Amino acid sequence: MPILFDAEKKVFRLDAGSSSYAFCIDSHGYLFHLYYGAKISDTDLFYLQSSLQMASFCPNPPDNSPFTLDTAFQEYPVNGTGDYRVSALSILGENGSTATSLQYRSHAIQKGKYALEGLPAVYADENEAETLDILMEDPLTGAEVHLLYGVLDNYSAITRAAVIRNGGSTPFVIEKAASAALDFPTMDFDMVHLYGQWAGERQVCRAPLTHDIRTVASKRGSSSHAHNPFAALVSHSATETTGEAYGASLVYSGNFAIEAECDALETTRLVMGVNPIDFAWTLNPGERFTTPEAVLVYSNEGLGGMSRTYHKLYRSHLCRGEWKEKIRPILVNNWEGTYFDFDEQKLLAIAKDAAELGIEMLVMDDGWFGKRNDDRSSLGDWFVNEEKLKGGLKPLVEKVNALGLKFGIWFEPEMISPDSELYREHPDWTLCAPGREPSIARNQYVLDMTRKDVQDYLFDAISAILSSANIAYVKWDFNRNLTEAASAKLPPERRKETFHRYVLGLYSLLDRLTSAYPHVLFEGCSGGGGRFDPAMLCYSPQIWTSDDTDAMERCRIQYGTSFVYPPSSISAHVSAVPNHQTGRVTSFETRGNVAMAGAFGYELDLTKLTAEEKELVKKQVAQYHAYAPLVQGGDFYRLLSPFESENRCAWMSVSPDKSEALVTFIVPRTRVNFNSYLRLAGLDPRKKYLDESAGRVLSGDTLMNAGLNLSRNYCDGESVLIHLKAVQ
Ligand code: GLA
Repeated sequence: MPILFDAEKKVFRLDAGSSSYAFCIDSHGYLFHLYYGAKISDTDLFYLQSSLQMASFCPNPPDNSPFTLDTAFQEYPVNGTGDYRVSALSILGENGSTATSLQYRSHAIQKGKYALEGLPAVYADENEAETLDILMEDPLTGAEVHLLYGVLDNYSAITRAAVIRNGGSTPFVIEKAASAALDFPTMDFDMVHLYGQWAGERQVCRAPLTHDIRTVASKRGSSSHAHNPFAALVSHSATETTGEAYGASLVYSGNFAIEAECDALETTRLVMGVNPIDFAWTLNPGERFTTPEAVLVYSNEGLGGMSRTYHKLYRSHLCRGEWKEKIRPILVNNWEGTYFDFDEQKLLAIAKDAAELGIEMLVMDDGWFGKRNDDRSSLGDWFVNEEKLKGGLKPLVEKVNALGLKFGIWFEPEMISPDSELYREHPDWTLCAPGREPSIARNQYVLDMTRKDVQDYLFDAISAILSSANIAYVKWDFNRNLTEAASAKLPPERRKETFHRYVLGLYSLLDRLTSAYPHVLFEGCSGGGGRFDPAMLCYSPQIWTSDDTDAMERCRIQYGTSFVYPPSSISAHVSAVPNHQTGRVTSFETRGNVAMAGAFGYELDLTKLTAEEKELVKKQVAQYHAYAPLVQGGDFYRLLSPFESENRCAWMSVSPDKSEALVTFIVPRTRVNFNSYLRLAGLDPRKKYLDESAGRVLSGDTLMNAGLNLSRNYCDGESVLIHLKAVQ
C-alpha cells in the first residue's frame, strides 16, 4: 500500500520506492506538510510541524488560532491570507480580491494513476500505482481544488497536479495555479538546474541557495533553450553517487516557473507550474482548470540516483507508443549534408550509400514543400515541391524503400511564412495581439494553435502527406518563440489564456496524429533542443538534442540533458568537419563515440565521405547494433563532468542485469603527462568483467574502487569506448 492514511492522526504517508512523503490535515482544515525524504515507518508525525510563533508581522488565521501560516509548512500555500512566501494558488474573486483560502473537505485513495485532461502525464496501471485525490475548498469563491498525488510503488517518484473547479455561482480568475509546492525545514541545499541557448542547451548550473527567491522560468511560449523545466535541490555534499537529491521536473512545454524561496527561518519553499506571468484563466461556474504534472524524485544516491529514476520512469511510463522501448533505427538526415539544396537525385545518392553502409533510414529535412529553397517562404504549405521531387513523394519513398531504407520527413507545423499560400489565404491564422504587427523571427510567424480550425488544417495537411507514401518517421520542428501572444479568437479579458491554450492545442494535435499513425516514430525538435521537455516525450520518444553537432560541445549538452532525460531520448548524430557550428575538427571516431550515447545517426552528405571514413561508418553501425540495447535500455552513470574539467569527460551504461557495460571516456582538451584513472560505477562488485580492449579481467569492486588506468598522452578531442562483459 503506497498510500497510507492514519485516520486518527489525520496523517497521510506516501511511500514511493525508497522515499516517504507525509502531510496532515490540521484541526482547522489546513494541509500541513510534514516530511519528504528517505523512507520512514511512522505516521504519527504531527510533531514535525513548525510551531514557531512569530510577532504581529506574521498574522494568525481569522479565528485567532495560535499559529501563523507564514511559517507553517504547507502542501499548497495560497495567496493573500497570511503566508507571504511564494504561493501556489491565487484566485481573483468577484469581490476584486486575490486573497484565497483553502479548507480540507474530503479525500479518496484509488488504485492506478490519475490522468490529466488535455495534458500529458506519467501513466501506470492499477498494479503499479495509487492515486490520492484531496478535495480542498475556498468557501468564498467556491473554488474546489483537487490536489492529486500519484505514487508508483517501484519508483522513488511522486507525481503531483491540481485540478481547480469553479463550484460557486460566479466566475473567478485563476492568476496562479502551481502544480506542486514543497516546503523543507532547511535551506542547506545547492540548486541544480539546466540553462542554455540555441546550440548550447542544458548546461549544468549548481549553486547554494541563499536568502532570496530564485526562479528558473520561461515566458517564450515553449519550455525553451534558455531554461529546462527542471530543478533539483541537493545537499551541499551530494555527488553523483552519494547524498540527497530532490528532483522536480515539470511535464509541460510552455511557459513555466520553478521558484525556490528561502526565508529568514532558513526554510525553503519550492513552487513549480505554469508561469504566472502573462497568465490568467477565467473559470465559469462548473468549469475546470487542470495544471500540468510535476514529477518529484527523491534520491539518497546523489544526482546519479535521481537521474536514473527519471530515466526509467520517463522511458517506460511517460513515453508512449510502440517505439518507446524499441531500439531506434540508425538514420541519416540530410540537413547539414545539403541544407535546402537537394533534389530526388541527391537524396537517392545519399540513400544508396546509406544502404551500403548499413544505415537504416533516410530523413528528408527542411525544404521539400511549397517553393521553399531557403528559410524565407512556404511554412504552412505542406505539399510537395515538385520542382525538387518530380512526381511527388511516393516515387521517392518507394525508391528509398527499395534500397532497404525507411523514409522519414521533416515538418514545422506550428509556423507560417508570410510568403506562403496559407498566409495569403488565412492571414488571420497568425498568432498576434489585435492591433499589433507580429514580430518576425527566422522570417516566420507562429500559427494560432489555440484555434481548432488551425489544428484541423494541420491534422489534414500532415495526414495527407503521411498517407501519401510509406513514411516511418516525422521530425517535428519549432523554430522560433512566441510573441504578441494574445489570440484574436479570445475575448480581451481571456487573452492571457493564450500561452496555455497554445500548448493545449499543440498537445491535442500531437495526440490525434500519434494515435492516427501509431507506427510512425516521431522526433521532437526546436532549433535543436529548445523544447526538450518531459511533455514532448509523450509524443516523441526521442528529441533532437541540439543544432550544435560538434562532439566536444555535445559532451556538455548531452551530459546536462542526462540529468533528467533517458539516453534513448537523446538524439545524436555524427556530422562533418570542420563542424558547421564551431569550426572544430574532431576525429570520426570521437564523433561516433559521443553520438553512440543516444539515438544514433548521421547528419552529413555520405557521398562526400572518403573510403576510410566509410569503413568507419560500417564499424560504428556494427558498434551501435552491439551497444544500443545497453545504452538505450541500461542504467546511465555520469563519471567525469565536462562542467568541472575541460580535460576529461566520462559516462557509462550498465545493463539492468549488470552483465555488460559500455564506458565512454573523452579528452576534450589534452594535457601532457596527465593521469587518467577512471573509477567506474554501477557494476556488480562480485562479478568479473572482461575489458575487451585491454584483454584484462577485473572484478566489479576493483573497477569501481581502483578504476581503469587510462593514462597516456591524448590529442585534443580523442576518446575511447571500453566494453566490459561479465565472464562469470
Ligand atoms: C532547425 C532544426 C534543424 C533543421 C532546421 C531546418 O534548426 O533544429 O535540425 O531541421 O531547423 O530548417
